[in-house]
Amino acid sequence: MQGVTVVDHPLVQHKLTIMRDKNTSTASFRRLLREISLLLCYEVTRELEMTTRTIETPLETMEAPILEGKKLVFASVLRAGNGLLEGMLELVPAARVAHIGLYRDHETLQAVEYFFKAPSDLENRLVIVVDPMLATANSAVAAVTKLKERGATNLRFVCLLAAPEGIEHFTSEHPDVPVFTAAIDKCLNEKGYIVPGLGDAGDRMYGTK
Ligand code: URA
Repeated sequence: MQGVTVVDHPLVQHKLTIMRDKNTSTASFRRLLREISLLLCYEVTRELEMTTRTIETPLETMEAPILEGKKLVFASVLRAGNGLLEGMLELVPAARVAHIGLYRDHETLQAVEYFFKAPSDLENRLVIVVDPMLATANSAVAAVTKLKERGATNLRFVCLLAAPEGIEHFTSEHPDVPVFTAAIDKCLNEKGYIVPGLGDAGDRMYGTK
């Protein structure tokens, strides 16, 4: 499974429109991001491997489907990734979590790492990287490169919005990592913001500026 999946579910699109509106409050923005993350999580986990377990219902014994393999990992690209992480952990509470601290140098737009903490056995797990904005993709590329260096081989990337330039950059560096996004916007502006976009996702989530 490769390439880019646009999750064009009506609920996702409706919520995204409200998030884009500059008059939407911080509280609403945060709540909507959590709600969309549940729907994106549903899509990105659609093809998880299954096995069966013998259980007894009150009526009889049955072979019932259950997730196979080791617990998956959500890798949050700080700080905005945490907005997607929260909802995903509600759906997959047993998941492990990696945190990758990357900030964008506003001059060069390059990703600079300041924090990395992840489970030690990444090679045996599906790793779902979450970051709301795939803009230049510098952070996403750096995050996935680092996770691969630490052993991850089975990765997916989830964002809310992507720029065509970001998708091009990301898929050329990591063609093996499928991307899930709620929308692909028009372009990046000269400051590296997605247009029309929704502004700075971290600032809108946390009410900073
Ligand atoms: N990061 C954001 O938060 N917003 C953008 O538009 C681009 C990168």
